[in-house]
Amino acid sequence: MAERFYVTTPIYYVNDVPHIGHAYTTIAADTIARWHRLCGRDTRFLTGSDEHGQKVMRAAEKLGRTPQEHVDITVQRFVRLWETLDIKYDDFIRTTEPRHQEVVRGFLQQLHDKGELYPKDYSGWYSTSAERFWSNEEVAAADGRCPDSGQAVEWITERNYFFRMSNYQERLIAWIAAHPQSIQPESRKNEVLGFLRKPLEDLCISRPRARLSWGIPLPFDEDYVTYVWFDALSNYVSALGPVGGEQHQRYWPADLHLVGKDILTFHTVYWFSMLFALGLEPPRQVYAHGWWTIKKEKMSKSVGNVIDPEQLVSVFGVDAVRYFLLREIPFGYDGDYSPEAALLRFNSDLVNDFSNLVHRIVKWSDTPLGAPGPLGQAEAELLAVAARATAGFRDQIERYQFRAALESLWTLVSAGNKYVDTHAPWALAKAGNTERLAEVLRALRETQRIVVSHLACVCPGACTRVLARLGLDAPDLRVRFDVLPGGSTVRPGDPLFMRLDSEATLAALGALPGAPPAPPPSPKKETPVSEATPAPTPAPATITYDDFAKVALRVGIVLSAEKHPNADRLLVLKVDVGEPEPRQIVAGIAKVYEPETLVGKRIVVVVNLTPAKLRGVESQGMLLAAGGSDVASLLTPLHEVAAGSIVK
Ligand code: MSP
Repeated sequence: MAERFYVTTPIYYVNDVPHIGHAYTTIAADTIARWHRLCGRDTRFLTGSDEHGQKVMRAAEKLGRTPQEHVDITVQRFVRLWETLDIKYDDFIRTTEPRHQEVVRGFLQQLHDKGELYPKDYSGWYSTSAERFWSNEEVAAADGRCPDSGQAVEWITERNYFFRMSNYQERLIAWIAAHPQSIQPESRKNEVLGFLRKPLEDLCISRPRARLSWGIPLPFDEDYVTYVWFDALSNYVSALGPVGGEQHQRYWPADLHLVGKDILTFHTVYWFSMLFALGLEPPRQVYAHGWWTIKKEKMSKSVGNVIDPEQLVSVFGVDAVRYFLLREIPFGYDGDYSPEAALLRFNSDLVNDFSNLVHRIVKWSDTPLGAPGPLGQAEAELLAVAARATAGFRDQIERYQFRAALESLWTLVSAGNKYVDTHAPWALAKAGNTERLAEVLRALRETQRIVVSHLACVCPGACTRVLARLGLDAPDLRVRFDVLPGGSTVRPGDPLFMRLDSEATLAALGALPGAPPAPPPSPKKETPVSEATPAPTPAPATITYDDFAKVALRVGIVLSAEKHPNADRLLVLKVDVGEPEPRQIVAGIAKVYEPETLVGKRIVVVVNLTPAKLRGVESQGMLLAAGGSDVASLLTPLHEVAAGSIVK
């Protein structure tokens, strides 16, 4: 049977509004799961929601809902966000589901029967916000408030059930020593070991029902409900069905619990002890990643600095958001979010490097590949770069070092772009060197295939589109230049990513939390031209059809585009309008489009304007664009009609 891989995210509090911190863990887990699936492993990816507790109960009361009605509504925020972010989980567990509650009650009964649970009177500082007791010292160190939330704490005395966690201190230390990979990164493992140097206390695992009714009742004392963390941690096992059942045998112990650093102690000290007591093996690894901060501060609803992933997606698109979050900070470390950094990554890595590699040879989409043959020196060198880049990618992604993995893959993206520059397919085509052109195209299309096959776990949408254009219905990780069949062509398509204008993008991203989201910016514009609020234009005077018919409009395909030698605002294009020679057209679109993103684009051209010189360069026609003097977008036909097609 294929090797298996079981990966989980924390189950999120349904009461919270999801932000990029939540999205981060889930995108990372999804990327890992997609990678393992791609490598042919029997992969299971679990996420879910944490739905019990005092906060949920209070929020529901405030809104006049039952807690169940409330969580049924709020859980949808997460379900919808995961859909938006292209998260392909195998299971979504909710702690209010009967399948989960049954397992938790079974665990509690088993521990009770074994004498692992006992009742005791307990007094302590209770924090409603953190849903836990704190010791005197902890509260004193936090100026008399909850060390987690900074909110008020109450002194409470009550009888509760305790789990004999203290019995497991030695075993925990021994387990971690014998399984050095079980907690990662190393620095986090050392934190846990540091925590275990102090005597471990028993864990209070119940709450009196009189104070908190929204929880799973203890099976042996219905006056109590289960402590939320005991309830929540059990999800990783309960989602596999009954212990000893088919799914459980197949996937437990989990290979990876991905968590934020804030909940590491729960996932190691508490969870491993619970599993020891239940006679189950701990997960093979708990990996704690760092936190996204905003201007070095924690994201929080009350501060109002929460970044909404939906808004980022509306500006950049889902693939770019996934790429940015994984590329920007080394996994395991904290990192500061800034819209400027997101924009820079987008325009440089995705537009200039990746999209460019895919798009700049689109013009020769119809050129069939020759049969694979022996590689020339340049092709062998490119393949060697591919081998190194993908080995690095594989190695780093399996250690969850997404940034290093992507950096490694980008060495191939850059080498591919350089190869295009050096072996100039346009020059080969012009010289009629079709044999060499076919070789160069093979190397480039195979390079594209290798890049997008690997990148598909991070940017699934864009990569699937490129694979489809190459005629493939799934990624193919083979690092060879003889995979695409001889005779194959490529379906041309639009650029994957279009350059975004800084001002308009930053304005859209800088929208205050809670304010209506700014409209997504359109591709690069000189001055913001908002599609949402077009400036009123005076009604034009009418003309006869004969007047209109005087303008000859044709579909053109951009063959090349470069900067005008004497004007920043202008680009000089060569456009095929179906005539024996391409037209040279000078257009004021340099602030809106990078020249290389236009190659292969279909546009609309006025072909019967008297030629004119624009800053010393002759223009033999005019392009149609929306936006008046502030160009917002070139016009392009919906379908891939031939160059020279009449437009009327
Ligand atoms: N319900 C518990 C988890 C129970 S798991 C058995 C919980 N939920 S949570 O919704 O508050 O957050 C869960 C996770 O979201 C964190 O562990 C972390 O993975 C992620 N993040 C929340 N804020 C974050 C940042 N600011 N940055 C990065 N990730 C953070 O805790």
